[in-house]
Amino acid sequence: MSTPGKPLLRVENLVKHFNIGGPFSASKQVIHAVDGVSLHVDERETLAIVGESGCGKSTLGRVIMRLIEPTSGSINLSGEELTTVKGRALLPYRRKLQMVFQDPFGSLNPRMTVQETLGDLLRIHGLASGKSVKLRVGELLETVGLPASSAKRYPHEFSGGQRQRVGIARALAVNPSIIVCDEAVSALDVSVQAQIVNLLRDIQVEFGLSYLFISHDLMVVRHMADRVAVMYLGRIIETGDTENIFSRPRHPYTRALLDVVPIPGALRKDDRMVLKGDVPNPLTPPAGCHFNPRCPFAINRCRVEAPTLQSTGEGLVACHRWNEIPAWVDPSPPPKDSDGRLERLQARFVGNDPSPAKQPAEAGTTA
Ligand SMILES: Nc1ncnc2c1ncn2[C@@H]1O[C@H](COP(=O)(O)OP(=O)(O)OP(=O)(O)O)[C@@H](O)[C@H]1O
Ligand SMILES: [Mg+2]
Repeated sequence: MSTPGKPLLRVENLVKHFNIGGPFSASKQVIHAVDGVSLHVDERETLAIVGESGCGKSTLGRVIMRLIEPTSGSINLSGEELTTVKGRALLPYRRKLQMVFQDPFGSLNPRMTVQETLGDLLRIHGLASGKSVKLRVGELLETVGLPASSAKRYPHEFSGGQRQRVGIARALAVNPSIIVCDEAVSALDVSVQAQIVNLLRDIQVEFGLSYLFISHDLMVVRHMADRVAVMYLGRIIETGDTENIFSRPRHPYTRALLDVVPIPGALRKDDRMVLKGDVPNPLTPPAGCHFNPRCPFAINRCRVEAPTLQSTGEGLVACHRWNEIPAWVDPSPPPKDSDGRLERLQARFVGNDPSPAKQPAEAGTTA
């Protein structure tokens, strides 16, 4: 986490609906994947997007990246409206906005060495030519904790953690302002996960980066993010500073989300709000507040009137009853972490883990 600066990315009322069913289908069906999302990310800031599977996190990231076209809404980067830019004119903006995926194979060509992939990228964007390409690729690999000599390897010759480092080097190659990380550490072993989180934080400071950090891992989010936006069925239902969200969540859904993971300071067991049922079908979202069928505090109004985001003084929440329902109970001692995952993660996050970026080992041994 670093000191945020000027506004960088501003998204207003972004909508992405997927029309499903072929042209000859009798009934037209629409998935409301992203349903009127507004958010902003400042310079050097990390905004986390959290929420259950299928709530629209990846779609939001992909629409912002213009990998898929929005249905409507505005995406503004450093004062420039992106939704009206098309074709080759998008190239300079693509440089500024980069993405790191859960599976780095998605962004790396399996038939090209890292030297070829990164080299091509540098040449296409006019960032290096001739002999300087090789030097720059080596420099990028060392920045992400890999030896320059690993440039000659193919993607399958790296471990999962190393491949994610290559994915990060690929994003860094074009000097981005903001990186959308979509579950970038979710598939990694816990110790490797912590190393990659530390790497992301180190390069954030070094290069003044902003992150839109999409993750279902709330522990990682707590360590990474300055602010958190909670999504439910395509909408943001609560947003605020990370510590406020974790210590004083206002929306019943945010509370329930925090209750299912071993977070330090979570509620006592008997105060926990267990979420019943699955996320409703996005083809037929419930009327009113989308969360109402699962919410223990729902009243008639919640079933007919969709709440809009309103200020709580600390953040924004979309709930008709946020200031009526029982307040977040005093935190109890951190729950027992049966598999030791929490302790291991914390030990690494407070810096007990030697950063591989400072100790570049052989490519075969670095995570
Ligand atoms: N190309 C597509 N065509 C039709 N529906 C889609 C498409 N992409 C996503 N969806 C639907 O949009 C909704 C949101 O999906 P999305 O992948 O954004 O969720 P998510 O929050 O990233 O989930 P997860 O945590 O599992 O990655 C889902 O109902 C999904 O089935
Ligand atoms: Mg996703």
